Amino acid sequence: MFRHAQLESVKAWVVDPAQRSLPLHVRIQRAVRQLILDGALDASKPLPASRALATSLGVSRDTVEAAYGQLHAEGFIERRVGSGSFVAEGARRLGGRGTTARTSTTQQPLRLSQRGTAMYRNGGVREFLAPRAFVPGVPETRNFPLATWERLQRQVLKEWGSTALLHSPPQGMAPLRKAIADYVNLERGAHASPERVLVVTSSQQALTLCASVLLDPGEHIFIEDPAYHGARKAFDAAGLDCAPIPVDVDGMRVDLLRDARQRARAVFLTPSHQFPSGATLALERRLQIIEWARQHQAWIIEDDYDSEFHYAGRPMACVQGLDAHQRTIYIGTFTKSLFPGLRIGFMVLPTELVAPMTIARTLLDGHSAPIPQLTLARFMEGGHFGAHVRAMRAIYCERRDVLAKLVRRHLKDFVEPRVPDGGMQMPCVFIRDIPEQQAIDAARRARIDLLGLSGLHASRESASAGFLMGFAAHTPGELEAAVKKLAQVLRVVAR
Ligand SMILES: Cc1ncc(COP(=O)(O)O)c(C=O)c1O
Repeated sequence: MFRHAQLESVKAWVVDPAQRSLPLHVRIQRAVRQLILDGALDASKPLPASRALATSLGVSRDTVEAAYGQLHAEGFIERRVGSGSFVAEGARRLGGRGTTARTSTTQQPLRLSQRGTAMYRNGGVREFLAPRAFVPGVPETRNFPLATWERLQRQVLKEWGSTALLHSPPQGMAPLRKAIADYVNLERGAHASPERVLVVTSSQQALTLCASVLLDPGEHIFIEDPAYHGARKAFDAAGLDCAPIPVDVDGMRVDLLRDARQRARAVFLTPSHQFPSGATLALERRLQIIEWARQHQAWIIEDDYDSEFHYAGRPMACVQGLDAHQRTIYIGTFTKSLFPGLRIGFMVLPTELVAPMTIARTLLDGHSAPIPQLTLARFMEGGHFGAHVRAMRAIYCERRDVLAKLVRRHLKDFVEPRVPDGGMQMPCVFIRDIPEQQAIDAARRARIDLLGLSGLHASRESASAGFLMGFAAHTPGELEAAVKKLAQVLRVVAR
């Protein structure tokens, strides 16, 4: 028979609301298994007979029999004809009174590698999960042409059949690589061919690949100051030494690369729309950086994350298209132009990097799922991508203007908006002494998400405090309600 405490513990499992989705016999089986793992059952004494336990628990004998049968099949108990059920020898060794596998691991401090510890301490990239005002970089998804996507996906399944269920080539499905190459050549002035396109999960994955394939731990990489935190964290995680280069109204101060104290093997930048300042890298600087890379045999990592959304004419052609020496790695993503759940980004690579990057990518996650790749290829080939981007560009442009007006009206005592020519977020700089982190924390309590500007700078001294406000995912009415709420929050913090 079970002792009182043991029986109570089994009963607790049976009535636990968190286990409600499990059949009764599974709850009993797990409860008894836990007692065995905890070393709480005396191995020399038989488990209660199924009829007795069924009566104590108020369940049918068949239910207890099913639980015992499963414990037997898993090797936790032995059933001896005539003498009952006993804790199996092997399971007893697993448990041992009071020293379970479970308790002993929780008592040991967690031991991670130095790299793992540093990554964990540094934090991840996606800290905002709900699309609340004013999460930066999140597109509007409520008006996405889902019916078209669904139709194209059905076509893919019909034409490809079960072949679409197999692995994709690690470099990406051929129709998508072609559609991407055509798109970046036409719209971004790139020099791409399908053979030089690598389909990846995200820009973030592309950054991780660049960090690990191109540089060794301890080597320097020039990055913009301020910089996109996702890039800096990817480089930090790979053990690279990030050397910040200041940004002004014309983008990164490329002239400083030549005089920098450190020699770097690569430079990371967002030339179309500097993150977070919004500056566009001037043409002269584009040419200078290409020359610097050629001279030093260094790599230019160009993150062209949201150039589809430029509101003052066409955006400048990408650096990759100007680079005749194949020193530039172009990174693009569909997270912003389509939707973040798609998880498709791409790289346009110098020819000699295609094989090493593709092989390295197989070690990260093998390949990207074929069905979304093929659906996206059709979405692009059929002109739906272009149409969607044009429609969203008009919507985001209006939302940017609405937000600028709202900030000037309701937040004028606290911040000055730096209205960007493109993109999906607006930097706002404090015009009086307001503690940035306190403002961000107070806003979060009011269910408003802001990304602080100071943390994106290499040093707090060089930083202009303030925050980024994403505007793309919210209607004018939603923006107005959130700005008014934010005004109340800032009034309290600035007191
Ligand atoms: C500058 C920049 N690069 C890349 C990304 C991430 O894109 P992905 O979802 O493809 O990793 C972001 C997202 O906010 C970004 O702001």
